[in-house]
Amino acid sequence: MATRSARPWWRDAVTYQIYIRSFADSNGDGKGDIGGIRSRLEYLKKLGVDAIWITPWYPSPQKDHGYDVADYMNIEPDYGSLDDAELMIKEAHQQGIRVIIDLVPNHSSDQHSWFKEAINSAPGSRERDRYIFRDGKGEHGEIPPNNWQAIFGGSAWQRVIENDGKPGQWYLHLFAVEQPDFNWDNPEVNEYFEKTLRFWLDKGVDGFRIDVAHGMVKAPGLPDVLEKDSATPEMLAAQQMPFWDQEGVHEIYRKWRKILDSYPGNRMAVAEAWVSPASRIALYLRPDELANSFNFDFLTSLWDVHELKRNIDLSLKAIKEVGAPASWVFNNHDVVRSVDRFALGLQPGRGETTFDRHGDVTKLDLELGIRRARAGALLMLALPGGAYIYQGEELGLPEVRDIPEDRLEDPRWLMSNRTDKGRDGCRVPIPWNNDPNSAFGFSTNIDIGTQGSWLPQPSWWGNFAVSAQEGNESSTLELYRKALGIRAHESGLGDGEMEWLDLGEKVLAFKRAGNFACIINFGDPFTLPAGEVLLSSVEFSGDQLPSDCGVWMRLK
Ligand code: NOJ
Repeated sequence: MATRSARPWWRDAVTYQIYIRSFADSNGDGKGDIGGIRSRLEYLKKLGVDAIWITPWYPSPQKDHGYDVADYMNIEPDYGSLDDAELMIKEAHQQGIRVIIDLVPNHSSDQHSWFKEAINSAPGSRERDRYIFRDGKGEHGEIPPNNWQAIFGGSAWQRVIENDGKPGQWYLHLFAVEQPDFNWDNPEVNEYFEKTLRFWLDKGVDGFRIDVAHGMVKAPGLPDVLEKDSATPEMLAAQQMPFWDQEGVHEIYRKWRKILDSYPGNRMAVAEAWVSPASRIALYLRPDELANSFNFDFLTSLWDVHELKRNIDLSLKAIKEVGAPASWVFNNHDVVRSVDRFALGLQPGRGETTFDRHGDVTKLDLELGIRRARAGALLMLALPGGAYIYQGEELGLPEVRDIPEDRLEDPRWLMSNRTDKGRDGCRVPIPWNNDPNSAFGFSTNIDIGTQGSWLPQPSWWGNFAVSAQEGNESSTLELYRKALGIRAHESGLGDGEMEWLDLGEKVLAFKRAGNFACIINFGDPFTLPAGEVLLSSVEFSGDQLPSDCGVWMRLK
């Protein structure tokens, strides 16, 4: 295998996910923005990440916080301008940080000019054909065209009022009503996205995170799903569905890969393909398709030695067959933070894990959750391939479980008839310092307070602030900095081979090149093998590795 500097950067990269609305607010309006990202590039450099992925920054009515795009080739005014974006990309590159942006090709906003035209045009028109419009069933077309449900709850179809003032056709929206699905059978849609790719590649972005990468192509004829599958679907497709993981998506990626490869600098794409098992993910990673795909089985696994080991084995085997690197992830903006998941130790349900599916939160032991999340970080960063860190993960942030109901913004909350509180708990603005007046340093507005940013922050948020952790050797932030620092110089880490070590039933231990070992203890304390401890997730003395603790070692 080529050395790290000789292989494409995305085979090894540690990428930091920026949920732009919650990262840093430079204009004092309570929402993060591009200026905020620019002001924190130094921080990211010091953290030691190789790349950033920025969630959608396009003009958007924000019905799903940017995943409802009104214009793919512009910037949301609340976040800045195209000039700001270009400047940010340039400055990130100067710091040695690559930039991945979010592309949302499955659906647009209902405020996209194409959808507005479609609504005002007649059934069967060219304008309607860019989306998925169908006549309803029943005598008056009053029954939705099929039985598909939206991911956020309720039917996946919305009826429109035609120009004659009467109810008419229905359009498909796999997500919110305001997120109509594109018709990928239409060449115009294909051309539009190829143009969008080039637009941003020309501006210097290094890659794209492809939203709902397994969803764009629908089965011909839009057949009903089986009765047993007709409840609100999970994002994670454990089987092919008429709207998930259709073969046609691969054709799109083969075209996109050619475009990416026509630019210098190893441009890439990472698929948000919530598919399982790993052998289906691997299809997105064939040499002529996408570079990376998040490992969602890993993201949703328990703090369970057997489940994690099984997942690692299956994933590595599947991607080896297509020659792709792994992409490990424990957190993102759609999932309850790992601190809480690992504390509860409950089965979060397969797929997208949200607040309410998490059982008895009164039993939550956050200290245990943080301890496990820290050990998990050492696991993730030592496994072969690349990894994705979600903002705040490096601070050990827990989920915010008590956002007042009248402040919840996730469309899931309303679309589930207020039964699912959704994903806001992992999206609370980042605490940079312990000053509550400035929303813990999130905002330049020093009078904004803890309730003034787009989502309110809890009073204890400042305990986790960057300023409270910086320089404190035992903090989670310093653990991540040290781990990333070691990873940068340890040539055996990143992409490459690993070999399991058998240190007992309750231990995950493996070797990487250079006598490097990663050892994670899920059970009782035990005696470590001989060697030098390079880093540990919990301070300890002697040779007994404590429970829920991980170490990196140089074996003798
Ligand atoms: C996946 C994104 O991660 C999520 O936040 C969004 O709601 C859906 N796709 C719809 O775009």
